[in-house]
Amino acid sequence: MALILGIESSCDDTSAAVIADTTILSNVIANQLVHQKFGGVVPELASRAHQQNIIPVIHEALELAGVRKQNLDAIAFTRGPGLMGSLLVGSSFAKAFALGLNIPLIEVNHMQAHILAHFILKKGVLERVPRFPFLCLTVSGGHTQIVLVKDYFDMEVVGKTIDDAAGEAFDKAAKIMSLPYPGGPVIDKLAAAGNPAAFHFPKPQVGGFDYSFSGLKTSFLYFLRDQLKANPDFIEENKCDLSASIQASIVRILMKKLKLASKEFGIYQVAIAGGVSANSGLRKAMQDASIELGWETFIPPFEFTTDNAAMIAVTGYFKFIKNQFTDQRSAPYARGGI
Ligand code: KG4
Ligand code: ZN
Repeated sequence: MALILGIESSCDDTSAAVIADTTILSNVIANQLVHQKFGGVVPELASRAHQQNIIPVIHEALELAGVRKQNLDAIAFTRGPGLMGSLLVGSSFAKAFALGLNIPLIEVNHMQAHILAHFILKKGVLERVPRFPFLCLTVSGGHTQIVLVKDYFDMEVVGKTIDDAAGEAFDKAAKIMSLPYPGGPVIDKLAAAGNPAAFHFPKPQVGGFDYSFSGLKTSFLYFLRDQLKANPDFIEENKCDLSASIQASIVRILMKKLKLASKEFGIYQVAIAGGVSANSGLRKAMQDASIELGWETFIPPFEFTTDNAAMIAVTGYFKFIKNQFTDQRSAPYARGGI
């Protein structure tokens, strides 16, 4: 059995997790509330908060797992993509810790990890895991892609956004309505009490399996600007319907290309991953598709949707068993997909 410590620090969550092979023993996440008043992540504040959080978070992850650091077999860390200052904190710590303990260091690509989160097992729970090949819609604050997953580390991006990510579309729509950051979960909550058919927004015209969300944001902005001229309280009076309608639009756009890709590739095992996969509208649309199209769907537990270190640790495990280690000269990368 391999005990692996995973460290995630790519954006604004400092997280550490311990995994025994693919079974999770602990997954600690420190969210950075400091960004809320700025309506978005402030990179310099994020690095500083990571620096403050990293030791306590790792300490807690080891303690909760009941694992002594001397018993760890490897350290896995997010090498990229993400914010450089944030990545530097996690990767520097991981390097020093691995060196000090004289154990292997394993670099992990954050986007691959979101997908491989589907292989995390919980103690005593019989989980279904996808079989290869499957399709995964990875939707986060920075990415929106349809990935053809042929093996653990053989992934092909077959469609992606040409402008904003789906999470950005949620966050920007929320900002337009003066809702707090991050807006995705807030819109999700308000949408539960709203009518998804109350307002209609135009669909993007993009070819293939690609996405576009910037037009939706602009039409939402212009629509509200016009309504506010007639009624300054329009947003306040309609925030549930507005949330439900914008959420329905985003989900419709996401599902349309995903269904197209499933048909084109003849693959009916379909997964979702990333922060936006926490969205109840998207989760419901996936369940509907499983009934309507006979898909076998994989929807991650909430704790593995947004950024977390358990997904880094499990990805690390799949590299560990192949002896895919990283040397001490490795440096983070801000960009770089699968
Ligand atoms: O994967 P993630 O935690 O970080 C990135 O790698 O970007 O994703 C964060 C994104 C944010 O845009 C946030 O608003 C969105 O995921 N998000 C949601 C929900 N929960 C998080 N969007 C819609 N509905 C949610 N319930
Ligand atoms: Zn992420």
